[in-house]
Amino acid sequence: MSILPRVALSRRGLPGDPVAALTPHADVVEWAHERPPNPAELRDLAADCDAVLCWLGDRIDADLFAAAPRLRVAALASAGYDGVDLAAVRAAGVVVSHVPGILQETTADLAFALILMARRRLGAAVDAMRAGGWTDNRMDGFLGLDVHGATLGIVGFGQIGQAVARRARGFGMRVHHHGGRSDGEGLSQRVTLDELLRTSDVVSLHLPLTDATRGLIGAAELALMKPTATLVNTARGGIVDEAALADALRAGRLHSAGLDVMTDEPRRDPADPLFGVPNLVVLPHVGSATEATRAAMVDLAVRNVLEVLAGRPALTPVPGTRPVPG
Ligand code: DGY
Repeated sequence: MSILPRVALSRRGLPGDPVAALTPHADVVEWAHERPPNPAELRDLAADCDAVLCWLGDRIDADLFAAAPRLRVAALASAGYDGVDLAAVRAAGVVVSHVPGILQETTADLAFALILMARRRLGAAVDAMRAGGWTDNRMDGFLGLDVHGATLGIVGFGQIGQAVARRARGFGMRVHHHGGRSDGEGLSQRVTLDELLRTSDVVSLHLPLTDATRGLIGAAELALMKPTATLVNTARGGIVDEAALADALRAGRLHSAGLDVMTDEPRRDPADPLFGVPNLVVLPHVGSATEATRAAMVDLAVRNVLEVLAGRPALTPVPGTRPVPG
């Protein structure tokens, strides 16, 4: 009988080959399906495990801890930890780690891609071309709005927000921000949220989803924005009221929007009302999806698992939680 600890991976085919990294130290059980496990399936998978490596959508809560009494560590391969019930973590004494400090440059690249796609109407142009709609090089075809020289408002000025600000300099944009601890350090000027919404040509969201940020951008906030403005969200879907956003876009009260994240993910219904909004570009939560970044995220999650299983503190515990079990 093996005396190695048992580690569950809640997804198969994770980048960076975590199975190879874990196998010398643990018996690894990998989720067997392409689709993600639902909460009951995750509990079954982790039931007799010492560690579980989790991804977006996995619920780390009291039910999981009750179903997996041996669990010492749940290691998220994501930076965000809005799916974690922090009170349950503290009560259970299980270590929960995440992967900060890795994805900021990659996600900032994607935020800029969305800014360009939405403002320059590139999604609509690609769709039209694929449908045989390139019939003429019309001078008034797919006219968008300039990104260079525009005013960028960054809501949430942490690592990703600051990486977006650095890119904006290359586009000759004026940058201001709301939130975060940095005063901008020459990259950006701090302003109130109202001022940012009223004066920005592009508003880009870079906040975690918390009780304080849920629904932060609703109908009232969208109404403050210029009708020529663009909203981009690469943070978490719950920060924006999707129905209010769709209304504002359809009514022409907002020029365009780009979403990499949505309230309920994944979203696969072709009849989803958001997919039909013409001046809205939606992407399937790919902000950090480069080979190098995703492999580095999995690698840090694996290292967190191995540290805790070896009796050492997790390298990057979720803030406000203990780095060692107990
Ligand atoms: C995260 O890590 O929280 C991102 O949203 C996924 O890349």
